Amino acid sequence: MGFFLHEIGRKPSLAILTVKDNKRVFRGNLDNFLDLIRTGDRLGVDVYVVTISDFSLTTPRMNGYRYDFTKKRWRRELVPSPQVIYNRIPYRKMEMRPEVQQTIQACNRSGAVHLFNPSFFNKWSLFEWLNNSRESKPFIPDTMQLKSANDLKQLLRKHPVLYLKPVKGKAGKGIMRIDRITNKNNAHDYRLSRQHNKQMTYTMHNSVDDLWKEWNKRHGSEDYIAQQGIALTRFNHRPFDLRALIQKTSKGLWSVSGIGARVAGKSSITTHVPRGGSIDDPSKLLAHAFGAKEAKHILSRARKAAVTLAKQIERASGNQLGEMSMDLGVDTDKNIWFFEANSKPMKFDEPQIRKKSLERIIGYSQYLINHGRRR
Ligand SMILES: Nc1ncnc2c1ncn2[C@@H]1O[C@H](COP(=O)(O)OP(=O)(O)O)[C@@H](O)[C@H]1O
Ligand SMILES: [Mg+2]
Repeated sequence: MGFFLHEIGRKPSLAILTVKDNKRVFRGNLDNFLDLIRTGDRLGVDVYVVTISDFSLTTPRMNGYRYDFTKKRWRRELVPSPQVIYNRIPYRKMEMRPEVQQTIQACNRSGAVHLFNPSFFNKWSLFEWLNNSRESKPFIPDTMQLKSANDLKQLLRKHPVLYLKPVKGKAGKGIMRIDRITNKNNAHDYRLSRQHNKQMTYTMHNSVDDLWKEWNKRHGSEDYIAQQGIALTRFNHRPFDLRALIQKTSKGLWSVSGIGARVAGKSSITTHVPRGGSIDDPSKLLAHAFGAKEAKHILSRARKAAVTLAKQIERASGNQLGEMSMDLGVDTDKNIWFFEANSKPMKFDEPQIRKKSLERIIGYSQYLINHGRRR
C-alpha cells in the first residue's frame, strides 16, 4: 500500500522551495508566492514556503512559512511534509550549492514527493536538446559554442548579424551583437554592440581577429554561444519578440497559458523591460506588420511551436517540468524562431496570463498528487 498515514484526510499540499535570506526571511518574488498561496486557498491546495535549510524528506513536519494576511507578515511555523515541491530557488549559484543539489536529487529519487523544474536551463544545452529533434530543429537559429575566432569567422561567413550570449545569462546581461558591414573597399568591417547597464557601447573592428580580441576583453569568465541574428519584425522601427508561458494543465499536458510581446527600447539590442523595452499586445503588433488575418495565423503557429519545443526540452532534459517561459522571434518573412526558455519564469504582467499561470501551477500540482508517477 502506497499510503502514508499523514496523507489521509489531509488537504493536498504544495511547498514553494527557496533559500533563506538574512534580510528578508527568504529569497524570491514574495508577491508571486503570496498570489500562489491565495490561489491555492481558493482551489483547495495548502500552499506554504519552505527553505532548503529547513526542508527534510524524512520527517512528517518541518519548519516553513505561512502568511498572516491580517497582520501582513510571514510567520514561521510547523508545516506538513509537502506532496508537491515547486522549485523557485532564484539564482543559479544557490541552486548549485552541494546541500541544495543533495536535497533536489533526494526529492527526484523519492517516492513520497513530486518535485518539478529541478534546475535552471543553460542556453547551450537548450540548443543541443532542440537541434537534435526533427520537430524542433526548424525553429532553432544557427548556433555555436563560442570558443575561438574561427567560430566567429565561420558564422560571419553565413550571417550578417550575430548575437553573443552568456550560456547562463538572463535579462539581457552580457549580450552582445555583431553587425557585418560592407565598407567602401568592398571588404568587411564589424561593429560590436554591447549592452552595458542601460547604455549601449559600440566598437568598430576591421577584422574578425580584432573583434575576437575585443570580445575576449569583455566577456569575463562567462561561457558564450554565438548565434545567427534574426531580422525581427518591427513596430515603429523597433524590433519586438514574443514571450510565451507554457505550463502543464490539470491533466498533465503541456499548453500555452498566454503569449505576450515585448518591444525593444530605443537603440537597445534586446527587448527587456528593464532595458527600456515595453509590453504590448502581440496581435496588434503582428497585425500592424502583416494584417489581422495573418497575425492570427502566426500566433497559432507560435503556440504550436511553443508546445513542440517544451515537450522536446522536457524529454531531452530528463527531468519532470511543469512550466517554462520562452522567448520567440518572428522574422520579417513570418518564420518563428526560438531564442531561449527559462525554467523559473518571471511574473507575467498581463492580468489574464497571470491569473491562468497561478491556477495552472495549482492544477498541475493536484494532477501530480492524484495521477503522477512516483519515481
Ligand atoms: N539570435 C537572435 N537574433 C535576434 N535577436 C535576438 C537573438 N537572440 C536574442 N535576441 C534578442 O535578445 C533578447 C534576449 O535574448 P535571450 O536569449 O532571451 O537572453 P536573456 O536570457 O538575456 O533574456 C531576446 O528576447 C531577443 O529580443
Ligand atoms: Mg530572454
